[in-house]
Amino acid sequence: MATMQFTRRRFLQFCSANVVLPWMSSLFATEARSSWAFGIIPDTQWWFNAPFHGTAIHVIDAINVEFIRQQVDFVIQIGDLAEMPSALAFQTRAAHNQSLTEAGIKFYPIRGNHDVPNNNPKNLDDQAMKQAAAAAQFTAAFPDLPGTSSVGSSPDLPGAAGMTYSFTHNDGKFILLDTFPMVDDNTKRSKTYTISDYLPWIEAELKRDDHRFALVFAHKPLQGQNHKDILFGENLDSNPEMQNAFMECLQRNGVRCFLCGHDHLYHHSRVKSPDGRSEVDQVICGSASHKFYLPALPLPERERPIAQELMRIGFVIVRINDDRISFEYYSARPFGAKPQTPQWELQDAFGHTQDGQSFGEPAETMKQFFRPER
Ligand SMILES: [Fe+2]
Repeated sequence: MATMQFTRRRFLQFCSANVVLPWMSSLFATEARSSWAFGIIPDTQWWFNAPFHGTAIHVIDAINVEFIRQQVDFVIQIGDLAEMPSALAFQTRAAHNQSLTEAGIKFYPIRGNHDVPNNNPKNLDDQAMKQAAAAAQFTAAFPDLPGTSSVGSSPDLPGAAGMTYSFTHNDGKFILLDTFPMVDDNTKRSKTYTISDYLPWIEAELKRDDHRFALVFAHKPLQGQNHKDILFGENLDSNPEMQNAFMECLQRNGVRCFLCGHDHLYHHSRVKSPDGRSEVDQVICGSASHKFYLPALPLPERERPIAQELMRIGFVIVRINDDRISFEYYSARPFGAKPQTPQWELQDAFGHTQDGQSFGEPAETMKQFFRPER
């Protein structure tokens, strides 16, 4: 009954949810630290002619209420803030962080594909001008991000400051990657940096002795469920050498969880590199908009699905306690046109304890993960 599975809340979990996160052992290798948490809000991009300038303000407001109630230290948004880039769209999105700001909660966004102009200009000058305008609108709405001052770091690449960046908080390091067109202030031409361009900086950041654990974020997945355009190119197998190098870097430096958006669904899996030598947990963090996608063919072959939920709004809280780190996914019935007070439900929680024991095995497991017929 695939139709039923798609049209009603569907939460699928695997027997294989016995997740192994070896980086946790190093996280807890030294003395215990105080408990703290941060939030991740997925795509707030709505459709073109939606109200509120294409950003899901009522969903944002409702999720922020929960972030404040759960006392997160900061919030990361993993791209697609609005349907289309404009000063008004970004300012509208930023204005709906007011409650976070008043609670002392910082907001760290990166851009998604909807936050840059369509890449179909009539000429290069027109393209560069539109991309420059959109990038300026983004930085005006979200000023002072790490890498633009003494706080945090950005790659030493033209236009990358405050767009791709890293920062530390307590014992964690957070690396956020923007793979969309930036503007070189010298040439005024746009430049889209690839993961290969960023890799030396990522490596250097992960090698710094300023954190006990690190997480990496980008808008597009390593391997998508609906979208086939990924972090490395236009299909699941694009640039395999780049995929291998990136995942090898994460694995070698103890990063075992990559978090992303783009698919407007929740999907937790373990992804292998094309050469099979590296693997990383991937969390596609859901949808914070009344817009959803369904898994589509071809589905990734190089991943082990662990948990999935479709057609619900949601968010993620990462909690670091004295003896454990946990990734918690909450969701609720969709809404958007009017303010609502959602009934949030904790749908997935996984992680590791100090002694290396995994937790988060579901009480109920499904022997088969739902997949459309190939
Ligand atoms: Fe996207």
